[in-house]
Parts: sequence; structure tokens; C-alpha cells
Amino acid sequence: MRAMVKVALLYGLLAFAWMLPASAQSPSASSAASAPQPPVAAGGGPETCLKCHGTEAKIITILQTPHAVKGDPHSPFGQEGCETCHGPSAAHVASRANKPKVTFGATPDDTGTFTPNVVFKGPKISAVAERNAQCLTCHQSGLRMNWQGSQHQRNDLACNDCHTIHVTKDPILVKATQPQKCFTCHAEQRADSFKFSHHPIREGLVVCADCHNPHGSPGPKLLKEFTVNEVCFTCHMEKRGPLLWEHEPVRESCLNCHTPHGSTQARLLIQRPPYLCQECHASSGHQAQPFAGQNLPGQIAANVRMMARGCVNCHSQVHGSNSPNGAFLTR
Ligand code: HEC
Ligand code: HEC
Ligand code: HEC
Ligand code: HEC
Ligand code: HEC
Ligand code: HEC
Ligand code: HEC
Ligand code: HEC
Ligand code: HEC
Ligand code: HEC
Repeated sequence: MRAMVKVALLYGLLAFAWMLPASAQSPSASSAASAPQPPVAAGGGPETCLKCHGTEAKIITILQTPHAVKGDPHSPFGQEGCETCHGPSAAHVASRANKPKVTFGATPDDTGTFTPNVVFKGPKISAVAERNAQCLTCHQSGLRMNWQGSQHQRNDLACNDCHTIHVTKDPILVKATQPQKCFTCHAEQRADSFKFSHHPIREGLVVCADCHNPHGSPGPKLLKEFTVNEVCFTCHMEKRGPLLWEHEPVRESCLNCHTPHGSTQARLLIQRPPYLCQECHASSGHQAQPFAGQNLPGQIAANVRMMARGCVNCHSQVHGSNSPNGAFLTR
């Protein structure tokens, strides 16, 4: 709680610093280093920074992204340029300028120099809360409505653990490359994607964000919808019904029989029939005596109900039936 108040105060000050007239923004913040000073903006837009960083290929790629649209007042470049994200950085600009030559690629002597106010990567990386606050000033709504308190927020993920800003196209927004990023932390789901039966994630047809909202959700497990079934219905519409004869466990949750990411059983099943069915249908009825009277020595267990796909050979409408005679899910 106290940390949050501090952050709020810090950003209150930042907001104030923006409003100072240019004359009050002494770029010689480095000379008054004794007491902690509110950071001061260098001003001048992206050009100020590009004087030095404009030759770095991996930095200037940002110029081709929606973040660099000067004509759009919602875009960082329509506001304070690089400093909209990296924070007021007059001290950084001044300290670097004091160096007669800046050689990129060489390790600089950092004595007496300042990093920008917010650094997103590398050894001098800023705290997660500071980095995220920059992004959230513009991206709090929409998909991020449930970010606060979400599993990823509580586990200290930063926006830029998933997002890359200085690239022409952020890989997490591209179907073919999104899962790789998620797999770096979610090894179990990566292993699932290689199993015999799996949602075509590696094939690039389905992505994690088709079912999950990684920014937070009102449902369980960061799912996009309130219930598992609502998620499945977005693509498997025919399973929604309405159906004349329903199969209770299907209405309840697809996960009574399926697993979402991958299975060693066909059709993403958690077990293969008949064992799957017998988890619930073992107590009575014909399905309970698979080998009755037939397990004589030398004889193959030939009960037709147990052969091959077992139960679903006859009960083919396991998800429910619309046939007037479908009460037993056989048609
Ligand atoms: C006078 C030259 C100069 C100017 C102007 C300048 N920088 Fe830098 N900046 C540097 C140098 C040199 C480094 C260190 C490079 C390295 O470590 O490879 C650096 C490093 C950085 C880093 C990485 C910090 C770190 O320690 O990892 C960021 C972020 C950055 N600059 C942003 C900015 C922004 C934003 C502006 C404009 C407000 C800006 N720079 C203006 C020279 C400059
Ligand atoms: C000054 C406001 C502002 C800030 C700060 C900001 N953004 Fe954006 N962002 C925008 C605008 C405007 C767009 C383009 C319109 C849109 O897609 O909403 C955008 C687009 C995006 C997109 C979609 C890009 C695409 O190619 O479609 C992502 C992802 C994104 N921002 C992430 C971030 C992250 C992460 C941060 C923090 C490091 C951040 N933004 C900081 C305003 C901002
Ligand atoms: C765990 C990974 C992850 C984290 C952390 C994350 N994002 Fe995203 N973000 C994604 C994915 C995946 C998409 C694509 C969503 C889709 O296609 O539905 C996305 C899409 C976006 C978009 C573009 C779509 C839109 O909403 O307009 C923006 C902007 C964005 N994220 C901002 C942020 C901000 C700000 C943060 C930090 C508060 C953040 N993200 C944290 C994975 C992440
Ligand atoms: C939308 C927010 C945003 C804007 C605008 C932005 N940056 Fe960055 N910057 C980042 C993020 C996030 C990273 C981490 C690497 C990445 O995602 O590409 C980064 C990385 C860097 C780095 C490498 C050192 C580091 O912190 O990793 C430098 C240098 C840098 N930015 C300079 C600039 C300059 C110069 C501009 C203006 C031309 C600029 N940035 C504009 C968000 C931004
Ligand atoms: C077809 C929809 C779907 C897709 C695609 C999908 N998931 Fe899931 N995921 C689910 C469902 C449903 C659950 C809830 C499982 C449960 O409650 O047992 C889940 C649960 C999870 C969990 C929590 C696991 C646990 O045991 O609590 C993680 C982590 C996860 N998914 C990550 C991912 C990642 C990473 C991807 C992309 C590689 C992905 N998911 C793609 C539907 C999906
Ligand atoms: C930097 C590491 C990291 C990345 C990248 C990442 N996650 Fe996570 N994710 C976590 C952590 C940590 C948790 C919380 C602990 C846990 O449940 O494993 C989590 C939890 C989850 C959960 C389960 C929530 C629950 O209730 O159990 C889902 C679903 C999930 N992540 C999906 C994704 C998706 C989809 C992506 C890619 C868009 C992604 N994650 C990228 C670290 C990451
Ligand atoms: C984004 C769309 C999408 C969502 C959401 C989705 N699926 Fe799928 N599902 C697919 C695609 C595509 C296939 C592959 C179809 C094919 O190969 O013909 C598939 C295949 C399957 C299969 C058959 C797998 C096999 O090996 O033949 C099952 C079972 C399945 N999904 C169950 C589910 C369940 C349960 C959910 C909800 C947790 C769900 N799906 C959510 C798109 C989706
Ligand atoms: C009572 C167990 C059970 C439940 C619950 C269940 N399924 Fe299935 N599902 C099966 C079985 C068994 C198969 C394989 C049928 C076969 O091999 O003919 C299957 C196959 C599938 C297939 C691939 C074949 C086809 O019919 O398209 C999809 C897709 C599927 N299920 C989606 C779902 C969805 C979506 C839900 C939730 C609404 C769900 N299932 C709930 C048992 C179940
Ligand atoms: C998670 C538990 C569960 C699983 C697994 C399950 N069922 Fe069911 N099934 C039920 C319940 C509950 C009913 C409703 C029972 C009732 O109305 O008496 C039902 C009803 C049925 C009915 C209709 C019987 C009647 O009396 O209305 C058939 C047929 C059936 N199941 C076959 C199957 C088959 C075949 C499988 C395997 C593919 C299967 N079930 C898997 C729980 C399950
Ligand atoms: C040869 C076809 C056939 C096979 C194989 C079969 N069933 Fe049936 N099942 C039926 C028929 C037909 C009915 C309708 C009532 C009856 O004749 O007993 C039925 C009725 C049921 C019922 C509801 C009545 C009751 O007895 O409780 C359930 C539950 C059921 N089957 C489950 C299963 C399960 C589980 C399996 C696999 C172990 C299975 N069935 C295999 C044909 C079959």
C-alpha cells in the first residue's frame, strides 16, 4: 500500500514537471545531485534523442509503428516523443552531451552519467510498476480493464515482458510468433502442444489469445469468457445447442472429458472410452459389465461394447442429440 502511494506521488510530480515552462527546466540537473530532484524533461520531441540514438537500427524501427505518429495526439510522438515512455530525461541528455564523443557499441564509461528516467531493458532496468505505469497512462481501458489484480499483474509481469516496442511489428501480436513468447514461461503448455492430439497452436491456426486474455479477465484462468463452455462455443458453435436431449456433463463443462491444450488420447480427451464414460457410468446398467460371461480361458474379451471406440460406437451423439429417438444419445 505504501509503495503504491509512493508511486502515485512520484507520478504526480512527473505530471507537474511537464507543466514547467522551458526556462525553468534546467538541464544541469546533474550539478544539483545532492537532494533528490524531480526529473526534468529535455523537451524538443524525439529529435532531441535521435541526435544520438538516430543511428541505432534497433531503436529507430519505432518510427514505423503507431507509437510514432506525430499527427495523432494519442500517440507518444504526438505528445513528448521518446520521453512520453522513457520519462523526463534532461539529466541523461545533459550528461551524455558532456562526453565529447559517443561511440555506440563500445562500453561507455558511466561515471557521472544519468540513464533516462525509465529504462525498460538491460542492467539498469526500472521497477516493473514504473514501467507499467508509463504504458497504462494510455492503455488502461479495453482489454486491460481487469489488469489490476490479474494473475499476471500479481506475479509482477511487465507489459514489456510480452510486448516489444522498438520493432516494426510486435511478435506477440502475430499468430505465428505469439505462442513462443508465452512458452518461455509456460513450459507445460509447450509440452502439451507437442502431444498426439492438440489444438493447432504450433500450426498457427489457433493462438493462446483466442481463449485467454493475458491482461486479466473476470473469468477463471484468464479465460476470455466467464465460463469454459462459452470460450469453446466461440469456435465449436454446433456444440452450443439448443438440443432436445442433452448430456449433463457437456452442459456443465467441456473439461469433464476434454483437456484444452494437448492430450495423448485422441480428440483431446482426458481418457479414452470406455474408461472415460465409466468414470461416471460404472455403477449399474449394461456398461458396467464389459466382460460378463465372456472371460473364459483362451477366449478374447469380445464384448462388442468394449471394442475399439467402445461406447461411442453406439452412443455417437455424446454431446447431445436432436433426434426424437436420441434419448440414449445413439442417434
Ligand atoms: C548526447 C547523446 C545522447 C542523447 C541526446 C540521448 N542519449 Fe540516450 N544514451 C546515450 C548513450 C551514449 C547511451 C548508452 C549507450 C549504451 O549503453 O550502449 C544512452 C542510453 C540510453 C538508454 C538506455 C539506458 C541504459 O542504461 O540501458 C535509453 C533508454 C536512452 N538512452 C534513451 C534516451 C532518450 C529517451 C533520449 C532523449 C530524451 C536520449 N536517450 C538522448 C546517448 C544519448
Ligand atoms: C501516449 C500514449 C501511449 C503510451 C504511453 C503507450 N502507447 Fe501503446 N499505443 C498508443 C497509440 C495511440 C496506439 C495506436 C492506436 C491503438 O492501437 O490503440 C498504440 C498502440 C499500441 C499497441 C498495438 C500496436 C500495433 O502494432 O497494433 C501495443 C501492443 C501497445 N501500444 C503497447 C504499449 C506498451 C507496452 C506501452 C508501454 C511501453 C505503450 N504502448 C505506451 C499510445 C500509447
Ligand atoms: C502475458 C503477456 C502480455 C502482457 C504481460 C501484456 N500483454 Fe498486451 N497483449 C498480449 C497479447 C497476446 C495481445 C494480443 C491480444 C489479442 O489478439 O486479443 C496483446 C495486445 C495488446 C494491445 C493491442 C490490442 C489492443 O488492446 O488494442 C495493447 C495496446 C496492449 N496489449 C497493451 C498492454 C499493456 C499496456 C500491458 C501492461 C499493462 C500489456 N499489454 C501486458 C500479451 C500481453
Ligand atoms: C511506447 C513507448 C516507447 C517509446 C515512445 C520509445 N521507447 Fe524506447 N523503449 C521502450 C521499450 C518498452 C523498450 C524495451 C525494448 C523494446 O521493447 O523494444 C525500449 C528500449 C529503448 C532503448 C534500449 C535501452 C533499453 O531501455 O532497453 C533505447 C536506447 C530507447 N528505447 C530509446 C528510445 C528513443 C530514442 C525513443 C524515441 C525515438 C524511444 N526509445 C521511444 C519504450 C518506448
Ligand atoms: C482452445 C482454447 C485454449 C487455447 C488456444 C489455450 N488455452 Fe490455456 N487454457 C484453456 C482452458 C479452458 C484452461 C482452463 C483449464 C482448467 O481449468 O483446467 C486453460 C488453462 C491455462 C493455464 C493454467 C493451467 C492450470 O493448470 O491452471 C495456462 C498457464 C494456460 N492455459 C496457458 C496457455 C498458453 C500459454 C496458451 C498458448 C500456447 C494457451 N493456454 C492456449 C484454454 C485454452
Ligand atoms: C514472463 C513470464 C510469463 C509470460 C511471458 C507469460 N506468462 Fe502467463 N503466467 C506467468 C506467471 C508467473 C503466472 C502465475 C503463476 C502460474 O499460474 O503459473 C502466469 C499465469 C498464467 C495463466 C494461469 C492463470 C491461473 O489462474 O492459473 C494463464 C492462462 C497464462 N498465464 C497465460 C499466458 C499467455 C496466454 C501468455 C502469452 C500471451 C503468457 N501467459 C505469458 C508468467 C508468464
Ligand atoms: C479459436 C477457435 C477455437 C476455440 C476457442 C476452441 N477450439 Fe477446439 N478446435 C479448433 C480448431 C481449429 C480445431 C482443429 C479442427 C480440425 O483439425 O479439423 C479444434 C479441434 C478440437 C477438438 C478435436 C481435436 C482432435 O484431435 O481432433 C476438440 C476435442 C476441441 N477442439 C475441443 C475444444 C474445447 C473443449 C474448447 C474449449 C476449451 C475448444 N475446443 C475451443 C478451434 C478452437
Ligand atoms: C461426456 C464427455 C464429453 C464432454 C463433456 C464433451 N465431449 Fe467433446 N467429445 C467427447 C468424445 C468421447 C469425443 C470423441 C467422439 C468420437 O470419437 O466420435 C469428443 C469429440 C469432440 C470433438 C471432435 C469431434 C467433433 O464432434 O467435432 C469436438 C470439437 C468436441 N468434442 C468439442 C466439445 C466441446 C466444445 C464440449 C463442451 C461443450 C465437449 N466436447 C464436451 C466427449 C465429450
Ligand atoms: C462426468 C460424468 C460423465 C461422463 C464422463 C459421462 N457421462 Fe454420460 N451421463 C452423465 C450424467 C450425469 C447423465 C445423466 C444421467 C441421468 O439423467 O440419469 C448422463 C447420461 C448419459 C446417457 C443417457 C442415459 C439416460 O439415462 O438418460 C448416455 C447414453 C450416456 N450418458 C453415455 C455416456 C457415454 C457414452 C460417455 C462416454 C463417452 C459418458 N456418458 C460419459 C455423466 C457422465
Ligand atoms: C452395441 C451398442 C452399445 C454399446 C457398445 C454401448 N451401449 Fe449404452 N446403450 C445402448 C442402447 C441401445 C441403450 C438403450 C437402452 C438399452 O437398450 O439398454 C443404451 C443405454 C445406455 C445408458 C442408459 C441406460 C442405462 O443402462 O443406464 C447408458 C448410461 C449407457 N448406455 C452407457 C454406455 C457406456 C458407458 C458404454 C461403454 C462402456 C455403452 N453404453 C456401450 C447401446 C450401446
